[in-house]
Amino acid sequence: MVVPLLPDSAPFSGAQRAWLNGFFAGLLNFDANGHAGGFAGAGAASAVATLAPPEVEEEEFPWHDPTLDLDERLTLAEGKPTERKLMAAMAQLDCGACGYLCQTYSEAIARGEEKDLNKCTPGGKPTARKLKELVAAGPANGAAKANGTHNGNGAVAKANGVVAPAKSTYNRTNPFPAKLLDCRPLNRPGAVKDTRHVMISLAGSGLTYEPGDALGVFPENCPELADEILAALGAAADEPLPAADGSPRRLRDALIQEYALARPSADLIELLAGCAADPVDAQQLKLLIDNDEDEWIETADVVDLLYRFPSARPPAEAFLRSLAKLQPRLYSISSSLRAHPEEVHLTVGVVRYEHGSRKRKGVASTFLADRLTGGGVLRVFIQGAHKFRLPDRGDTPVIMVGPGTGIAPFRAFLEERHAAQAPGKNWLFFGDQCQATDFLYEEELNGYQKHGLLTRLDTAFSRDQKEKIYVQNRMLHRASDLWNWLEEGAHFYVCGDAKRMASDVDRALHEVVASQGGLDAAAAKAYVANLSKTNRYQRDVY
Ligand SMILES: Cc1cc2nc3c(=O)[nH]c(=O)nc-3n(C[C@H](O)[C@H](O)[C@H](O)COP(=O)(O)OP(=O)(O)OC[C@H]3O[C@@H](n4cnc5c(N)ncnc54)[C@H](O)[C@@H]3O)c2cc1C
Ligand SMILES: NC(=O)c1ccc[n+]([C@@H]2O[C@H](COP(=O)([O-])OP(=O)(O)OC[C@H]3O[C@@H](n4cnc5c(N)ncnc54)[C@H](OP(=O)(O)O)[C@@H]3O)[C@@H](O)[C@H]2O)c1
Repeated sequence: MVVPLLPDSAPFSGAQRAWLNGFFAGLLNFDANGHAGGFAGAGAASAVATLAPPEVEEEEFPWHDPTLDLDERLTLAEGKPTERKLMAAMAQLDCGACGYLCQTYSEAIARGEEKDLNKCTPGGKPTARKLKELVAAGPANGAAKANGTHNGNGAVAKANGVVAPAKSTYNRTNPFPAKLLDCRPLNRPGAVKDTRHVMISLAGSGLTYEPGDALGVFPENCPELADEILAALGAAADEPLPAADGSPRRLRDALIQEYALARPSADLIELLAGCAADPVDAQQLKLLIDNDEDEWIETADVVDLLYRFPSARPPAEAFLRSLAKLQPRLYSISSSLRAHPEEVHLTVGVVRYEHGSRKRKGVASTFLADRLTGGGVLRVFIQGAHKFRLPDRGDTPVIMVGPGTGIAPFRAFLEERHAAQAPGKNWLFFGDQCQATDFLYEEELNGYQKHGLLTRLDTAFSRDQKEKIYVQNRMLHRASDLWNWLEEGAHFYVCGDAKRMASDVDRALHEVVASQGGLDAAAAKAYVANLSKTNRYQRDVY
């Protein structure tokens, strides 16, 4: 008999609990009657060796698909525990914007450890609203399971105690200070877009990655934005701030390095409402808290809020405390370590747009493109993507659909297959606005075609003619060949825009299967579902 050591409230399933109780009993040398015999030393090792971890059944999350809309995801989670419904309400990007993965954020809410329901930035208001509703409706489910959490270095720590070995001490909680090697434009002069090829050195980190993984980047805010906030607050840049660890910090540095200055947090709105000198400002701010349907606040940033409510000026320290923490951004890795030892490359679309009279900049993409210079240091970690991988066999054909920055992981796939001299056929569908300015990696791709590595390259330049032509149109043009490749066992990959492209490509895939396979809609759906189930249809969409 194993004496239970874990409290009932510990977040483990029955099987996990039994194994962990056995593990700890072995470690502490408990006898069958529950008497501790002290630290077991070698006995502990033998307990570890002889107690095989139970098979933890891999739980499926059918709603974990960013191309499904909120209602579809919630339908798939019907009848599941609260934490799974909460997960289904999130945007399913595992983007890290909330500081968790979708699964671990929802479990933290369900356990009552996380109170902020506004952290899912890509899910926006609809997600926040649904989370509120679910938390209000269901008991905070104390039995939230922690099935597996990413440790940020591609290794997955399973709750059954099995930890995949990490090769580096650097991870999300201890990011590596990496050097930027280069950040060169991929678009030609005259392009509407600004897409960059970013090269980063991993030398000295011990970090490794596989094609399909992503790089997490901790960005810094634009100093001009921090200055705008300081001016609006009437605060001094060098206002000293008390720091928990005793290290001196200046207000301006904290704004640049530590806090999210985009979407105002609920705490900030409450703080401003509480200190507004003008009763009209106070009243309107309270309305913003109560009425989460307000369209203005949906797109407002912190500066917009300060400008609109000039009588609400809290002390700098309270203001900082009300801001959300700046979170890392993920980028699909666009290089293979075999081709570029100790380097990681990214393909980054720079976010710049106008909102009202103000120019807005994406934090991380402009940090990489504008504010870091060659030799500059950025904090990074590897985010493993266990479900976006080249086939195990080098002779398996692959079909890759990656418009815009969606080409990133496919450049890595091609480099990897080139370095490994893998004999499998490779077919890429690439699209962007104009051939003359936006044919990303044109020379490399043409080189691979000449070499024979890239068996087929189909491009769709949407703005080179009156009618839009997209990658899915090219798939439909090539339906017969596409079907033949699938029937030969090809793996089908999609990367890029989750909102429209990924679902349109999915529809086109179903159409190809139905028309070429002579299948009705239900059979085509089953065929595609089977591709997914056998890991032959994989998506990395954001
Ligand atoms: C797994 C994964 C892989 C990814 N891979 C890549 C990749 O390979 N390449 C890549 O470029 N990105 C990739 N992304 C996206 C990337 O993580 C960032 O979200 C992106 O670079 C924007 O971050 P930012 O900090 O520059 O912008 P932010 O400061 O986060 O601003 C972006 C926000 O600005 C708003 N916005 C943007 N454009 C407009 C507009 N025109 N009008 C109004 N509002 C607007 C939107 O609310 C948007 O959410 C990936 C994301 C994930 C989750
Ligand atoms: N979270 C973020 O802030 C963020 C930042 C960067 C990128 N992204 C996402 O990543 C995506 C990739 O951005 P990107 O600039 O590299 O490329 P993109 O905007 O996806 O554009 C690439 C090509 O895809 C075309 N396209 C548009 N709609 C499509 C559809 N429904 N199906 C197929 N193709 C379609 C575009 O055509 P047209 O433009 O001519 O219609 C363009 O030719 C963005 O769409 C965005 O959703 C998000």
